[in-house]
Amino acid sequence: MDPNSAHMTPDEFRRRGRQVVDWIADYYERIERFPVLSRAKPGEIRAMLPPDPPETGEEFDTVLADLDRVILPGITHWQAPGFFAYFPANASGPSILGELLSAGLGVQGMLWSTSPACTELETHLMDWLVGMLGLPERFRSDRSGGGVIQDTASSAALCALHTAREGARAAGRDGPLVAYASTQAHSSIEKGIRIAGIGEESLRLVEVDDRLALRADALAEAVAEDRRAGRVPFFVCATVGTTSSHAIDPLAAIGPICRREDLWLHVDAAMAGTAALCPELRWILEGCEHADSFCFNPHKWMFTNFDCDCFWVADRKSLIDALSILPEYLRNKATESGAVIDYRDWHVPLGRRFRALKLWFVIRHYGVEGLRREVRENVRIAQELAGKIEEDPRFELVVPPPLNLVCFRLIGDDAANQRLLDTLNESGEMFLTATRLDDRLVLRMSIGGTNTRAVHVERAWERIVAEAAKIA
Ligand SMILES: Cc1ncc(COP(=O)(O)O)c(C=O)c1O
Repeated sequence: MDPNSAHMTPDEFRRRGRQVVDWIADYYERIERFPVLSRAKPGEIRAMLPPDPPETGEEFDTVLADLDRVILPGITHWQAPGFFAYFPANASGPSILGELLSAGLGVQGMLWSTSPACTELETHLMDWLVGMLGLPERFRSDRSGGGVIQDTASSAALCALHTAREGARAAGRDGPLVAYASTQAHSSIEKGIRIAGIGEESLRLVEVDDRLALRADALAEAVAEDRRAGRVPFFVCATVGTTSSHAIDPLAAIGPICRREDLWLHVDAAMAGTAALCPELRWILEGCEHADSFCFNPHKWMFTNFDCDCFWVADRKSLIDALSILPEYLRNKATESGAVIDYRDWHVPLGRRFRALKLWFVIRHYGVEGLRREVRENVRIAQELAGKIEEDPRFELVVPPPLNLVCFRLIGDDAANQRLLDTLNESGEMFLTATRLDDRLVLRMSIGGTNTRAVHVERAWERIVAEAAKIA
């Protein structure tokens, strides 16, 4: 320890770093011993924390011990194999290590010149991913488009909405704007409309079909009706893999309407987009060539730590025009040369961290084939579970799962289903969430965790059946 400095020395960092990596590895080895859903009561974690911060620095061992004593009881174990709630927020070894290195380098990549590698690796990976997912070539940075890593799909939707609105206004389309999404679209679309100041009344939620996917005919009718009323349709969000049921909106039918009517088409494939790694699952993106923007979250199903959303536009100029402001203090020769990308112009914040590093580690560790293997196995397990549910007369499979989200319910009323859900979550063995479909409570089992294997789903199903028998 340097008596003149409070900082950790490189030697101490090395020693403590090893301890922390060991802690994480041990955590993964014992993760199944914890209840998946935290049992902490409101205020319980804060009550274990001292009222005031330490006046003098504490021993690192004491801090690490408190991780077990104070923090772990308040953790819901997202990386546990019995985590089937929401959608996953997957971590993986290579991703965690990439994240650590990004923190170690500590660069801020707002401009190309503030760390060229931060920008160029990102641009390169986003071009790789165009090929990996079979996205339209015009999304590539060496064509008219390009990709950028954002924090979340919500931010990506906001950027798409803002760019579409600016484009409509620049084209002289005056009047009350209207955006469209299905009744099943994620709430981030409504939030984006609110933040962009477009006005919540401007969002039309279009009816869905019996698979809960947006009805293209209903979209066309809504657009025509709005035009007749003097309103200005400008934006459609199609969802590939809705949050409630994983419905796949038909891009091949929606796209031509958007082209004909001059509407910006944003495709939100936050969770399901990862499936397109597998050629046999690429049908989910059929019609994507019509999209103006597209996003998916490697931080959900592609084993990359939160946060990491990949967002592409077909015409990067429109995005940059909508977001770029160049104050004097950011001027530099590289920017003025026009030869570089400054990602600060591609999203809301100015500052940005080196997220591409963890994505690079993931893609290189697994390889495209390794990623496909994991995705295929998740889909296979989910389909197998759906088969078991279908065969069991005590349960109803609410919709056939297109991929790896299984929606089911116990035959009975909502109260019985709520009781089943609560019992399962209190068991500590698993964590599931529910949704409402056709105004009925439905249990969702999302199968895509890094550590979830067939055996965990089989065990969970046995428990579900056993608990259901007690309720029936
Ligand atoms: C379809 C869909 N879109 C958007 C989101 C929002 O994701 P994010 O947390 O990245 O904003 C989700 C979250 O689950 C989602 O399921």
